[in-house]
Amino acid sequence: MMRLTPSYETRDAFFSYLEELFALSSDDLFAMIKDFYWDMSGGLSGGPSSLKMLPSFVDKPKGAEEGSFLALDLGGTHFRVLAVALDGKGKATVRHSSQFKVPRKVMQGTGAALFDFLAVCIDSFLTKNRFQRNRTYDLAFTFSFPVRQTRVDSGVLIGWTKGFTATDVQGKDVVCLLNDALRRKHIDCIRVTALANDTVGTLVARSYKDPTCNLGVILGTGTNACYREKWSNIPKLKRPKHPGHMIINMEWGDFSRVRSSCYDSELDAASVNPGAMRFEKMVSGMYLGELTRRVLVDAIKRRVIFIISPDAVQRFKRKGTLKTADMSLIEGDDTADLDHIDSFLKQKGILSTFDDRTLLKRLCGFISGRAAGLGATAIAAVITWMDPDLKKVHTVGIDGALFEKYTGFSTKMRSVLDELLGGKADNISWVHSKDGSGKGAAIIAAVAAASE
Ligand code: GLC
Repeated sequence: MMRLTPSYETRDAFFSYLEELFALSSDDLFAMIKDFYWDMSGGLSGGPSSLKMLPSFVDKPKGAEEGSFLALDLGGTHFRVLAVALDGKGKATVRHSSQFKVPRKVMQGTGAALFDFLAVCIDSFLTKNRFQRNRTYDLAFTFSFPVRQTRVDSGVLIGWTKGFTATDVQGKDVVCLLNDALRRKHIDCIRVTALANDTVGTLVARSYKDPTCNLGVILGTGTNACYREKWSNIPKLKRPKHPGHMIINMEWGDFSRVRSSCYDSELDAASVNPGAMRFEKMVSGMYLGELTRRVLVDAIKRRVIFIISPDAVQRFKRKGTLKTADMSLIEGDDTADLDHIDSFLKQKGILSTFDDRTLLKRLCGFISGRAAGLGATAIAAVITWMDPDLKKVHTVGIDGALFEKYTGFSTKMRSVLDELLGGKADNISWVHSKDGSGKGAAIIAAVAAASE
């Protein structure tokens, strides 16, 4: 006969199982660092690797770049157009900015419709801020997807990530697609001088005023990083004697050598890009809520949580019914009776006991804790790749809502970094590089314009 109420043993056993499933041992983390080195080296030489290690054809700025530039930022559910002024002394100021929601049907329609949408947004930005149409503005395009570049102002999309699927863009030069759309809309006052990933923008924006910054990280809808590498360490560029440096977009969201759970596999199988971006699907804001929802539904079906709410499964049945932002609220509830969690659940029509709320909070903690641990370990791997003995001081420029807004995320990252690197972790600090991708893009446009 089916048991209607689980014994506490069952409930405890299931949550202990989950805790273990999502835990990262020190051995796991150190193994991951080694695997990171291996794949970094493979990616730099053009061999088999889950890290693409894409050359950006940009180095860090000198801090003296100046002028006014336009910047576009496309990489998630919102598209931004900005006008940025650089004062030549390390200060970048956003003078105007407009944000436009990218409708799902545009993200997943045709490439021409997507780029036409961008052109319409640009047109309205220019009109609203009274830009003169009879002169030329240099513009940098932050396009936060994997792009193969051979120069700073052009690049071919390797494949979409983060839920975009627009047709006829993969394999094409996205700067050409943008220029074509601008022309269709009769916008002749724009010259696209640079194309950059958001990580590169973030690193460049921070290093404009802080020379100790050699690593830019995004922890937001997606996750990725870039760092500064010697040309001589990038065999695939075939310039072994080149004395300079170049920023490398790692595309670490695609890192595949990491232990995952059955829930990760289910989430991956149901995504628009199965098999790809496995690390991103364990770490970033677009996926954490969905991963937790899947585990929660399993727990409800096993009748170890929300037993007093018979239709709880229905409330969490659909994708999107538990968001990463909800997890942050749940983890941030410090009230004695977990009142915030209670009202969140009541809004969904779910009645809960105090034990249910405690378990839900624990579950969010397992999943966000693993994400923070993986993020910190990846940072440790890249910094020790650049400076194995951690002799220097390193600043990491980080942007993205997961880092900025998720309750306790950065504290959890810090404790994993301390566990991995001991006292040497004191040489690493991270700063929130707000608006990095917009400001950084403008600085890249300035660097590109000066080197013409
Ligand atoms: C995805 C993209 C990558 C971007 C990251 C953060 O991983 O592939 O290019 O940097 O999201 O936005």
